[in-house]
Amino acid sequence: MIVKLLLDRKREGGELSPDDIRALIDAYTRGEVPDYQMAAFAMAVCCKGMSAAETHALTDAMQHSGACLSWPGLSADKHSTGGIGDKLSLVIQPLAASCGISVPSLAGRGLGLTGGTVDKLESIPGYNAGLSLEDFKRVVAECGVSIAAQTAEIAPADKKLYALRDVTGTVPSIPLIVGSILSKKLAEGAGTLVFDVKCGGGAFMKTRADACALARALVDGAKAAGRKAAALVTAMDEPLGWAVGNALEIEEAIQVLRGGACGDRALPCDVVELSVELAALMVSLAKGVELDAARAECRANLANGAAYGRFAEMVKLHGGDLDAFASRSRGERRVVVAPRSGYVAKVGAEGIAQAAFDLGAGRAKAGDAIDFAAGVVLAVARGDRVEAGQPIAEVVAADNPGKLPHAEELVKNAIALADEPPEEYPLVLERMQ
Ligand code: URA
Repeated sequence: MIVKLLLDRKREGGELSPDDIRALIDAYTRGEVPDYQMAAFAMAVCCKGMSAAETHALTDAMQHSGACLSWPGLSADKHSTGGIGDKLSLVIQPLAASCGISVPSLAGRGLGLTGGTVDKLESIPGYNAGLSLEDFKRVVAECGVSIAAQTAEIAPADKKLYALRDVTGTVPSIPLIVGSILSKKLAEGAGTLVFDVKCGGGAFMKTRADACALARALVDGAKAAGRKAAALVTAMDEPLGWAVGNALEIEEAIQVLRGGACGDRALPCDVVELSVELAALMVSLAKGVELDAARAECRANLANGAAYGRFAEMVKLHGGDLDAFASRSRGERRVVVAPRSGYVAKVGAEGIAQAAFDLGAGRAKAGDAIDFAAGVVLAVARGDRVEAGQPIAEVVAADNPGKLPHAEELVKNAIALADEPPEEYPLVLERMQ
């Protein structure tokens, strides 16, 4: 393989063969292709795209650059492209497990404005997300679900390539994103994959067209690799649920897992509805049952405590202590009040996320410390009527309480008030199978 010739061909918009792509990825993983050539390759793909066959070959090569797991019986996982207040994995993975499916879930730590699923779980004292693959398999075998941190053995080619893309302006390419996400999920081994592709101001994919293209490519790629797959494209212009911030989101997820009707003001309806929808997709695809039957099973398992039972067992097997979590120090709080009367026209996801980040809930670079207690708890949602002076949110910080007044301003600016109620819009924008 002469890398320069592959780069020439890709630059001119030509198609590379599966063998070319495999040879390139294998050599890069072994350290035989320098970063400058791989960066040129990534940029050529960004500019010229890839055919479905090339994307499949890239995904396959990266998947097989490390360990590939497999699971006995029915197994499924859900992947979200990430959004503000997106604590759905904490609900969905144990909920699907409570319906009799194995749910092996390797997740990421967050870079950017708010923490990732692993950061959220690590706000539970003792929770060890850094399991070996052997321990990961043991926890899934014992309680049906494990949410652990991505290990170095899974798709090492993606780890290397993603770090390079991150610093060379080559992240926003659908074939590269598909290869990156799918290689990890396919290596994880679940037989069914469900994708929640977020779309809007608080998401990676800002437009509906881009979100749909990514969802289509993820589903097609997973199916081409022999898995059952479906995707929802869901709105991410406003945070999901009331809480944004690591421990705050765990608290909210526990509330949802403990059940209750969705009409109860304390329960976030969007989190309940989307969790049921995505878990039901996993269950219906994995078991081959009707979606309505799967929805009914999921709703029942939220109400009867079965889903919470799986969550509590998973936390215990990971060394976490939910009693210590319940009695943790909660940091300092400051109430944000409505500056005027009116209807909540929008709760801007970016502004809320920025407030949570400035309070210490996220990390700017790998290895930065997180304030698990920090974040924002909303008291109102789009469409609510509020009166001037009424509490609309709380901002929370433990390590940096001096940042609370600044965060209060950000939250006040993020919650737009208007004279007329806003139009409703659906949470689920598209379904793909
Ligand atoms: N998440 C990933 O894992 N990879 C990408 O390329 C983009 C988002």
